[in-house]
This record gives sequence, structure tokens and C-alpha cells, in this order.
Amino acid sequence: MKKLTNAAMLLCLLIAGSALAADGNADGAAVGDAAAGKAAAAVCSSCHGADGKALVPTYPNMGGQHASYTAKQLTEFREGVRENAIMAGMAATLTDQGILDLAAFYASLPAVKGVASEENLKAGEDIYRGGVTAAGIPGCMGCHGPNGSGNPAAGFPSLSGQNSAYIVEQLKNFRSGARANDPGEMMRSIAKRLSDDEISAVANYVSGLH
Ligand code: HEC
Ligand code: HEC
Repeated sequence: MKKLTNAAMLLCLLIAGSALAADGNADGAAVGDAAAGKAAAAVCSSCHGADGKALVPTYPNMGGQHASYTAKQLTEFREGVRENAIMAGMAATLTDQGILDLAAFYASLPAVKGVASEENLKAGEDIYRGGVTAAGIPGCMGCHGPNGSGNPAAGFPSLSGQNSAYIVEQLKNFRSGARANDPGEMMRSIAKRLSDDEISAVANYVSGLH
């Protein structure tokens, strides 16, 4: 009897293991097909680039972003939870599977490497690593990681190499509440305490981080 139980348990572990391997997704998210996503992304590439590097600095780079984060954003654009006129139109007709495929495709691309400017780099680094104690702002590193690669399981996006103009815009959107899709108001509560200068500095630092 004992033996049988062990065998049954081993079988369960094997099944669980192969399900994970088939998923092939470290995010633990549902399965997306990167090849199907690549074909569907042709329409996205005029803005986000065929290689996931955006063609305009106010647009986000997508290369290397976690599939779970990208899928969340596309779902929320589709449902109007994250408001943006361009992306609402782009996401309107996407199916759940189409979203997973696109997210898997962008996650499969290498992360974009950017170069920060020297101006306000040190100020940005200090905020990223240590926050602003007097204003009660925690370091960004605590969630987005020492090299900006985020944490897919926790829903913290990768920021490394992201365009600084895009980051500035998102932080201002969180600050004003125009972007309100952050769980537990994690980003709104931080951004509302950041000044314009602090936003510019930390965005510049992040754009060169990898
Ligand atoms: C005409 C340009 C344009 C096209 C085409 C476009 N996007 Fe976007 N995308 C944007 C802009 C601008 C934003 C920033 C929106 C904001 O400020 O909230 C964005 C944001 C995003 C984000 C959020 C990224 C992040 O880091 O939070 C995702 C995901 C995304 N787009 C995926 C796609 C996909 C997938 C397609 C194709 C189906 C697509 N986009 C087509 C312009 C475009
Ligand atoms: C407590 C955890 C936490 C901390 C600390 C934190 N963030 Fe975030 N951040 C998040 C989460 C969660 C999201 C994703 C929100 C969503 O699901 O749309 C996010 C999203 C962002 C985005 C949007 C990324 C994109 O691609 O659109 C930017 C930019 C950002 N954070 C910058 C920062 C900066 C700069 C700091 C430090 C001043 C910081 N964050 C500190 C949790 C955190």
C-alpha cells in the first residue's frame, strides 16, 4: 500500500513536471504560442519594432518584457481598465489566446539595452536604489530588482532599458491617476510623492539599467 502511494505520488509529480515543461513559461502563466504571436505582431511592429525596440521614444520597448505583465496590460487596454486611445483600438479585437501569444512572442525577444545620459544619473540611481527617505518613497529596486528585470511572479515589470520618455509619461500618469491599473495602488502611492525632477532622474537612470 505504501509503495503504491509513492508510485502514485511520483506519477503526479511527473505529470505536473511535464505540464510545466510544456508550458515552458517561467511566469507560470497560461500557455502562449510565440510563433503565432510573432505573426500577429506584424501590425504592432510599426510602433513597437519588429525586434521589440520601439521606433519612437514615447512608445514602450517590448523586448524581453514578462509575458504575464504584457498579457495583463493588453487585457486591461481591451477592457478599458488602462486607458489609452491608440492601444484601446489595437487591443479591442484581440482574443484571450491572441493576447497570450503576443505576450509570449515579446517575452522571447532579447531585452533592449539603452544608454542613460550623464545628466542627473547619480540622482536617479539614488532614487532607484534607496528611494527618498524624507518623502517616504521606497527604492524602486525593492520591487523592480537590482538590474531592473522585475519579478514576473509578483507582477513587477521589467524596466531595464525602457525608454526614459515613456517612463516619465507613465510615472506622471500614475501620479495624476490617469493610469490606475496598479494592484494595491503600489505605483500611484509612490508616484504621487515624486517631483518632476525626481521622475526625470529616475527615468533616465532606468533607461540605461541592465
Ligand atoms: C500606433 C502605434 C502603436 C501600435 C500600432 C501598437 N501600439 Fe502598443 N503602445 C503604443 C503606445 C503609445 C503605448 C503607451 C500607452 C500608454 O501610454 O498607456 C503602447 C503600450 C503598449 C503596451 C504596454 C507596455 C507596458 O510596458 O506597459 C503593450 C503591452 C502594447 N502596447 C502592445 C501592443 C501590441 C501587442 C500591439 C499590436 C497588436 C500594439 N501594442 C500596437 C503604441 C502602439
Ligand atoms: C511595491 C512594489 C513597487 C515599487 C517599490 C515600485 N514599483 Fe513600479 N511597478 C510596480 C507594479 C506592481 C507595477 C505594474 C503595475 C501594473 O500591473 O500595471 C509597476 C509598474 C511600473 C512602471 C510602468 C512600467 C511600464 O512598462 O509601463 C514604471 C515606469 C515603474 N513601475 C517605475 C517605478 C519607479 C521609478 C519606482 C521607484 C520610484 C517604482 N516603480 C517602485 C511595483 C512597484
